[in-house]
Amino acid sequence: MQSYLRGRDFISDLDFSKEEVETVLEVAWDLKRKRALGIPHAYLRDKTLAMLFFFSSTRTRSSFEAGMAQLGGHAAFIESRTTQIHHGDTAKEIGEILGRYFDGIAIRNVDWGVGNAYINTVAQHSRVPVFNMQCEIYHPFQILADLMTIMEKKGRDLRRKKLVVSWAYASSYLKPISVPQSLILQMPRFGLDVVLAHPPEFQLMPEIVDEARSLARKYRVGFDIVHDMDEAFKDADIIYAKSWGPLLTTTDPEEGKRLQDQYKDWITDARRMALAKEDAIYMHPLPADRDIEVTSEVLDGPQSVVYDEAENRLHVQKAVMALTMA
Ligand code: CP
Repeated sequence: MQSYLRGRDFISDLDFSKEEVETVLEVAWDLKRKRALGIPHAYLRDKTLAMLFFFSSTRTRSSFEAGMAQLGGHAAFIESRTTQIHHGDTAKEIGEILGRYFDGIAIRNVDWGVGNAYINTVAQHSRVPVFNMQCEIYHPFQILADLMTIMEKKGRDLRRKKLVVSWAYASSYLKPISVPQSLILQMPRFGLDVVLAHPPEFQLMPEIVDEARSLARKYRVGFDIVHDMDEAFKDADIIYAKSWGPLLTTTDPEEGKRLQDQYKDWITDARRMALAKEDAIYMHPLPADRDIEVTSEVLDGPQSVVYDEAENRLHVQKAVMALTMA
């Protein structure tokens, strides 16, 4: 167990070593147990977190805010459009100034080619830990919650379990690629065989795919890319199927929608789930385009673990905050 995380940022999935992620999960399970038993755990009494959003959120905002209160502190919701950030406060100024008011700074900025650089610049100028609540490249807290959920459902030893990270059709908007990218980076370290499935135009960043492949080699697990959803689902233990935009092919929303509309049959339904193992679980970070990305039958069915997955956001985020901000 690597227990000294005080003062550390968490921006990319690999910022914490495998042993440090294991520590986070141990603390998360302890905090989950304490909450279930009604045992107070005010490890961050009088501490404050700035939550800076450039993009909308339900789960991330709510779970960070509830988590800080449960740890005895306070989280302040700051929105770029209703502050001077929209008029010109720079990333450097945000790091310097919010770092003097708060004990931690959490940021969501998914703007293509902008978000990750912005978060890193804030971190460079901040004297307190900076957390990535999702950028255009990574969604690291989502993946910690996913890992916690997979271990709860499939056991701590995940060797030889097959995780399918699949693209799915959506009509609402072009969703970021950060969830599948973070999944393929984090999961090989924990022994999962990863199969990435997507239509050709929906590839992920080549440098992220190369890193995932090299991690898979290091940890002696499988890593394959296929362009057929049925083929991917066969004999899977975990189905993680969600939509993302064709951002490596085009960032034009109209062209992106045209490409996306060619693949309306990429939906998770009962027929496809039956291709996976009988005890396979279905995961999605939410929000999902109901009956477009995934049928209600699957989303609300016995194999779906989406609510446990959403709950675990709270526990892993509290664990990271308690370990880094105390
Ligand atoms: N899964 C997730 O990050 O949800 P929100 O976008 O609602 O925060």
